[in-house]
Amino acid sequence: MSEEKVLELAQGISAEVVGDRYNTPGMADAIRRAGAEGIVLLRNDDDVLPVGDERLALFGRCQVDTFYVGYGSGGDVKALHKVSVLDGLEAAGLRLDKELSRSYRDWCGANPVSAGEWGRWAYSYPEMPLDEEQIRRAAAENDKAIVVIGRAAGEDGDLSLKEGEYYLSQDERELLSQIDKSFEQVIVLLNIGNIIDLSWLSDYSHIKGAMIIWQLGQEMGHAVADVVTGRISPSGHLTQTIARRYEDYPSSAYFGDPDRNEYKEGLDVGYRGLYRTPERILYPFGYGLSYTTFEITGRGLSEAHGGFVMGAEIRNTGRRSGKGLAQVYLKKPNRSPELAAFAKSDELAPGESEYVELFIEKDQLDVFDPDSCSYIREKGDYGFFLGNSPIDLYSRQGSICIDRRQIVKKCETITESSDQLKQRIIDNMPDEIGTASDQRIDFSSVIKGEKRLCDFVAQLSPEELSDLSRGEGPMDSSLSVKGNTGVFGGITERLRSRGIPVVNTSDGPSGLRINYYCALLPIGTALAASYNPLLVEQMYEREADEMKHYGVDIFLGPGMNIQRNPLCGRNFEYYSEDPYLTGRIASAAVRGLERHGAAACIKHFACNDQETNRNRNDSCVDERTLREIYLKAFYMVIRDAHPKCIMTSYNKVNGVWSHYNYDLVTTLLRREWGFKGLVITDWWMQMAESPEFPGVRDNAYRVRAGVNVLMPGGLGVDVASFIHDDNIERTLTLGELQKNAAEVLGFIRDLKRDQDYGSCL
Ligand code: BGC
Repeated sequence: MSEEKVLELAQGISAEVVGDRYNTPGMADAIRRAGAEGIVLLRNDDDVLPVGDERLALFGRCQVDTFYVGYGSGGDVKALHKVSVLDGLEAAGLRLDKELSRSYRDWCGANPVSAGEWGRWAYSYPEMPLDEEQIRRAAAENDKAIVVIGRAAGEDGDLSLKEGEYYLSQDERELLSQIDKSFEQVIVLLNIGNIIDLSWLSDYSHIKGAMIIWQLGQEMGHAVADVVTGRISPSGHLTQTIARRYEDYPSSAYFGDPDRNEYKEGLDVGYRGLYRTPERILYPFGYGLSYTTFEITGRGLSEAHGGFVMGAEIRNTGRRSGKGLAQVYLKKPNRSPELAAFAKSDELAPGESEYVELFIEKDQLDVFDPDSCSYIREKGDYGFFLGNSPIDLYSRQGSICIDRRQIVKKCETITESSDQLKQRIIDNMPDEIGTASDQRIDFSSVIKGEKRLCDFVAQLSPEELSDLSRGEGPMDSSLSVKGNTGVFGGITERLRSRGIPVVNTSDGPSGLRINYYCALLPIGTALAASYNPLLVEQMYEREADEMKHYGVDIFLGPGMNIQRNPLCGRNFEYYSEDPYLTGRIASAAVRGLERHGAAACIKHFACNDQETNRNRNDSCVDERTLREIYLKAFYMVIRDAHPKCIMTSYNKVNGVWSHYNYDLVTTLLRREWGFKGLVITDWWMQMAESPEFPGVRDNAYRVRAGVNVLMPGGLGVDVASFIHDDNIERTLTLGELQKNAAEVLGFIRDLKRDQDYGSCL
């Protein structure tokens, strides 16, 4: 199949929508609350926000053509409805300039926008031209101007350093200049998924207020209105550092190469690198204003529950109610501070306070030492600080001193040479599951716990084992819910006759990508910016209810790659430049999704931090950086939330495609981390031969690496060569194929049991 064909299929779910509009109980409210809590107030000079009964002139076409989500599989939801910024502010009863808003509505109607082409998306739209007279009238008749600046990004392409992408477009500059000349008080609402250049905020002397309103899904306008009007005080905080210039980002010199993506900045991702040059930071990680003020006072640090507990009192010292955020940073010897815990208060009235406890796991003290291939605790002082950001640590709450270097955990390397890898693969070859005496076990009796999984597997033929290692083939499979992203499991008559059900998948993460009207959720970055895992968990619990309604088994999300660089096209789906924050928020999403039996599929494992040439790109990362930055969040989610499924990435990691990467998937994920669930590929994989076993190719190579299912599927393992030749240099062993099937079926068994349990609740 040609690469173009593959790409076309990988994108292909029709836009047709069927069925009724199912409103998941409580979903709209959960989306609105989570969205509003993610909004980050950057600037609020002269208390220009919130607005009350002032007369407001609303500018910028994105008030009508609001970006609700980014482009690609992570945003392709047939939304139930969408509330634009203009609709939301109007519904909130604000005194908007009616004539101006009407002009925007009419002009946007007459000049419709298009998303562009797959991978070459419309990142920004042309602005409505305004003449001097219109601006003069609006300035004369209104007290404040609000300008909505919008930017989107999407899958399979990165933003570039062009106007209208990372930089403001000419249209946007022109609009801002016109408004800045005529209005005394200007508020900018940034309707963005990626961080863009924001150095221009200080180029216009009348910009008093600036707020990142992100892309907040279907309730966008309402959530924005909640914060603009002060019904809710902003409590979102940045999940990425905003540098003064693109060149200031530590990854900027190394990002974007189509072939080799060298992670030369190493550990210095985002604030970890910029910490040493704070003058390059425009707004730091963790930053976010409120309409009120908080005093956060530490109440000491103690050792408890196998880690450390810091107490803190969050007191509202201002004149409005709001939620405060306590951030704990850990400063290890010779390292930049790292976010180690955070806790948000409930809504506090002026004068009110709340005591929060922040837990810091002991392993946060550890660093990876590549020489001994182990996690170690360095000799020296470890300081625990409260801070508003890594560059604003205001109170040391405690410290511990380690008097000698300690090895905490010895590991197997995951970046070793091919020879040693081959020996390790051979040493760990799974045994064959003996031939079954009973050839008629139905899978339903395995689900019920009456029969053993291995006895069921033992009766399967090589063809059946092979069919379990692949999806059916097409997206929108006729075997399942309309518009599904692909199915596996009972994909043939034979497998179904044995009682194996069809298992379907749907993207994620901003809602279900099926041919029904579904809820459109806020983007990942906005959710993380809420620093409120509970809110995220509650929202995704409702998403699971929607999955149950439509019969969706696996939600392909959350997306949890690290925001290494602001240009990455899929940053909107991801959470943060920080692995700890990513791990906490992704765990919350998984817990919500899986609470009543559905399966989450965390993705993309690993280092899919760039979209340019993502199918062939090689992410070249040293083992320390890999483990401490790019894998840590995955580890946290597996440890804390036990997701049922994980998806490999399209790209290579240190020369080996993730879907063939034995060290990532077997050595690390399964053996070191103890992952017991299902590993699936991203949608299609590159065909290749194993360097360790040159006769082993494609799906056999993948199964040997420990990647269970090729999605959306098509060809399985070449069974003929396997039956006629059991030489491991040339083919898989029966034991390997059986182990693979046992993992797939173990997943299906657990899923069906949990779904059954969920439906009794
Ligand atoms: C994306 C995945 C997505 C899959 C199915 C791929 O192109 O990388 O995130 O889940 O398509 O739509």
